[in-house]
Amino acid sequence: MYDIPHLDLPPLNGASGTVQLPGSKSISNRVLLLAGLAQGTTAVHDLLDSDDTRVMLDALAALGCTLRRDGQVLHVTGLGGRLRQNEADLFLGNAGTAMRPLAAALAVLATLQGGRFTLRGVPRMHERPIGDLVDALRPLGCTIEDLGQPGYPPLRLVGTAGGQLNTAQPIRVRGDVSSQFLTALLMALPLATEAGDVVIEVVGELISQPYIEITLNLLARFGITVQHQGWQRFTLAQGSAYRTPGRIRVEGDASSASYFIAMGAIASHGGAPLRIEGVGSDSIQGDIRFVEAATAMGAQVKSGPGWLEVHRGRWPLAGITLDCKHIPDAAMTLAVMALYADSPTRLTGIASWRVKETDRIAAMATELRKLGATVDEGADFIVVQPIQAPQPWQTAALRTYDDHRMAMCLSLAAFNPLAGGAAAVRILDPGCVAKTFPDYFETLFGVVTADPAQVPVITIDGPTASGKGTLAAAVATALGYELLDSGALYRATGLAAQLAGVNPDDEAAVAPLATRLALRFGRGAEAGRTWMGEREITDELRLESTGLLASRVSALPAVRQALQGLQLAFRRAPGLVADGRDMGTVLFPDAALKIFLTASAEHRAERRHKQLISKGIPANIADLRADLEARDARDQNRAVSPLKPAQGAKLLDNSDLGIEDSVQQVLDAWQQRGPLNGV
Ligand code: DC
Repeated sequence: MYDIPHLDLPPLNGASGTVQLPGSKSISNRVLLLAGLAQGTTAVHDLLDSDDTRVMLDALAALGCTLRRDGQVLHVTGLGGRLRQNEADLFLGNAGTAMRPLAAALAVLATLQGGRFTLRGVPRMHERPIGDLVDALRPLGCTIEDLGQPGYPPLRLVGTAGGQLNTAQPIRVRGDVSSQFLTALLMALPLATEAGDVVIEVVGELISQPYIEITLNLLARFGITVQHQGWQRFTLAQGSAYRTPGRIRVEGDASSASYFIAMGAIASHGGAPLRIEGVGSDSIQGDIRFVEAATAMGAQVKSGPGWLEVHRGRWPLAGITLDCKHIPDAAMTLAVMALYADSPTRLTGIASWRVKETDRIAAMATELRKLGATVDEGADFIVVQPIQAPQPWQTAALRTYDDHRMAMCLSLAAFNPLAGGAAAVRILDPGCVAKTFPDYFETLFGVVTADPAQVPVITIDGPTASGKGTLAAAVATALGYELLDSGALYRATGLAAQLAGVNPDDEAAVAPLATRLALRFGRGAEAGRTWMGEREITDELRLESTGLLASRVSALPAVRQALQGLQLAFRRAPGLVADGRDMGTVLFPDAALKIFLTASAEHRAERRHKQLISKGIPANIADLRADLEARDARDQNRAVSPLKPAQGAKLLDNSDLGIEDSVQQVLDAWQQRGPLNGV
């Protein structure tokens, strides 16, 4: 997950491999609420872990549901329709899938059983309409106070125990702004069926009907059957009661699949397809029909239960005209695919985009124009012209408006080399994908290819104990780049020689060991840990004795040669920060920024001394300094790849700089020399 101000994507030229989708947001939050209202315990498998589900979980916990995590499974013990807490102040972030259904359920429960519940969210949530739902609930007898602008959150739902709901008349709700209002009523009103059937009537056209299908499908899993006529009149039978299905699996998110379906259509050419696991032909989500739209634009899609395989078909893609009411969220992805077509794409029926996480029509038009596209927009449509020669793709810093889908959609612009471009793309606030797909960019980088020459590299070389490793790791984190600690490869080679009982100066014996190190560097929760084969070598790698072994094996030309390929393979999208001795001189001579640290031996000895003492390891400054100087001499004077500043390297004397200042100096230099310099 990238919690950084921006992420720069280099020009990408291909995509293949397998992606595993996170759970569906819509299904996750519906399942959580239903499990929270039901009697008994529900084991929820493959739940989405994201901002929107976290606010729902926090709300359920505040209401007295019991949540127990057991590995990948969440066990939710529900309220059985009886409030356990009669007061709560719930913060629901920007999750419409939490705000709307909780508002309805708590309004009904507060009216019948007494209570006082406040629902609020982030500022954008307070601009997203809820008035149609409130207007449907008030005639029922629910007391709903507007705490801000009428018709928008925050809201307070109040009631005294023993209240009555007026369910004799049909409950009327508008269906043309957001289908979430109807979903909210369908999930809440089974609580109000004691006295008789409850009828809900939709006023106006119902948009996003597929989301209502998900709701009905999940209600059925929880024991509630809803009769409906023509998607206009829905009847909940008297005595409806939520019953846990015991176990329920959340399928992968079909809207999230749209980015990878598009990626396959654009960038999976030649060899293997892009395989998407977690959602497939058996999906209950409406956005699975994005497959049809993508196919109309040129994608070749095969599918089966729980999987899709996508390959480029027609190229360039074909522009389409489509009413997108049935796929409101995934339709955004079509707007970016349109850039790669050979005729304009016109998307209609998208008025709901204007009341989502941001005004998505305006946002999309603005950002696509920055890329060089001509875009026309209206109240409920958008027309996107492809970017075609001679009109060039522009290098752009793209805003994401705290909207996960904007970020994911816009990342697809990085494939512009496949349509004659050569532009890097900056995604501002990439962390906003956490709303539904926290690992989106990591997943993307796992399947894309780029011309290595286009993948930016920053090299950080310098003598031993100069703080390269710490600096490189911090710079890599700040940019979201890959990290190569090349010293670790020499250290691992030294260790491998020791474990094999080989003399570390025996070039012919050590070099073959270097070619088959079988190293694995931990990612995510395992970041900072290293394995050689089955053996974890994290601590051994950092020992002084291992450093000395490394210094010896690294003087052997055949060892250096053997480790070249492994090091070059770290040059992957989105970019690389490489630290060592010869990163700028030998491995990555074309690096856009080369740093050479020049901290004095005295300072380095002091630093190392502090480090060792803080770990409780006895040390003597004079000995350490003598050791460092001996190692410097060996690194500087060896015949192959001696330690020296690369041509054009920026010398950085970090003797008196703290780590944050050093990082800032490198980032400032990158701002001037990196590929998005000046954007
Ligand atoms: O940076 P370090 O202390 O982890 O490096 C261990 C040894 O490996 C050091 O003595 C020099 C050698 N090395 C090298 O020769 N070339 C590199 N690119 C990195 C390290």
